[in-house]
Amino acid sequence: MDRRLPATPAGTRDLVVVGAGIIGLAVAWRALEAGLSVTVLDPDPGDGSTRAAAGMIAPATEAEFTEDTALHLHLTGASRWLSFAADLEAASGLGVGLRESGTLTLAYDGTDAALLRRILALHTRHAVTSERLAISEARRREPLLGQRLTEAAWVPGDHAVDPRATHTALWRAVDAHPHGAVVPRAVVRLDVDAGRVVGAVDETRHLHRAGATVVAAGWASASLLADLPGVAVPVRPVKGQTLRLQADPELAPRHVVRGLVQGRPVYVVSRAPATEGPWKGHCELVIGATTEENPDDRRATAGGVFALLRDARVLLPAIDEATLVEATPRARPSTPDNVPLLGPTHVPGLHLATGHHRNGILLAPLTADVVVAGLTGSWFDVDVPSADPAAMLAALRATDPRRFSPTDPTTEGAP
Ligand code: GLY
Repeated sequence: MDRRLPATPAGTRDLVVVGAGIIGLAVAWRALEAGLSVTVLDPDPGDGSTRAAAGMIAPATEAEFTEDTALHLHLTGASRWLSFAADLEAASGLGVGLRESGTLTLAYDGTDAALLRRILALHTRHAVTSERLAISEARRREPLLGQRLTEAAWVPGDHAVDPRATHTALWRAVDAHPHGAVVPRAVVRLDVDAGRVVGAVDETRHLHRAGATVVAAGWASASLLADLPGVAVPVRPVKGQTLRLQADPELAPRHVVRGLVQGRPVYVVSRAPATEGPWKGHCELVIGATTEENPDDRRATAGGVFALLRDARVLLPAIDEATLVEATPRARPSTPDNVPLLGPTHVPGLHLATGHHRNGILLAPLTADVVVAGLTGSWFDVDVPSADPAAMLAALRATDPRRFSPTDPTTEGAP
């Protein structure tokens, strides 16, 4: 089956992307690089979950028990980041703040230590590199650690990137491209002609015609597509609150520091010292994140902020001295199986890139590759070196957006 885009009449784009978060812009940028013309529509680019995200590229330390498919997907996603960051920095002339510093994971009490050991066993089963560390060794590597920690592990492959810097770089790369545009308008509906999605209608009733439409509108993708027959998008908002602090470099950890504190996960990401702006010379620390089955009400709660600070200062007491500059509540888009929806749907012309749950930043480069492959050639024909190619392919196929649709998904080709 020929899955290439139909020839587009004059005045029509090859592609419209609904949503200019990190996912929508990554898809748009890679699509431009593949030779497509692209319009991205979003009234507030980057003001969804991208704004709250800390930037974890952490397939190992964010692994969940019984979610083996997701773990393979996340490992594959992490393997795309290095080249994605290098390409984007070259294309945009802007840094993305990727720090390959590894992650120290810590346990507070005996129950946390037992859970940490189970996580390390999970890593061993999946050939993910991690090692138990004596607390004294952890303290040697990260002298700022608190005194009441009982157990530690080192995960060298889990890193972090600055999502806001990445978003700015993507926006510039898309907007500066002769065939790309980011238009600050809200999409009210998709336009359908003879059963095919032919573009998106914005709030001024203007139709942005395109050969294909990618919906990358986070949790709002569900309501946008609710009335479209033949597609089911069971994406729900899962609220997360993060905190941003500014610290003197001596008070900033050298690695990503993650902990289990009486069963509650918490992490602290530290950025390189700012070279300009009001916080020049300071390091941004991001503490995250709550996970709440709540709507995107944009409310930072006293309880959420308190819990994050209480648990983070067990790991790193020096954050007491940092300046709290921002609490950011936003909802992640989550699916019933915690695996995203990537690629073509049963509806001709409609592709999805949403449902990334806690892994939107981690999976942005891989999402762009998978979705653009679905637009331009053979879906899943993504060149990713992997230690376990069969498991990787199975994980990629698990992202089929048609798995929740009324009709059974066919894994052969795409509409
Ligand atoms: N990936 C981190 C979070 O969603 O909190």
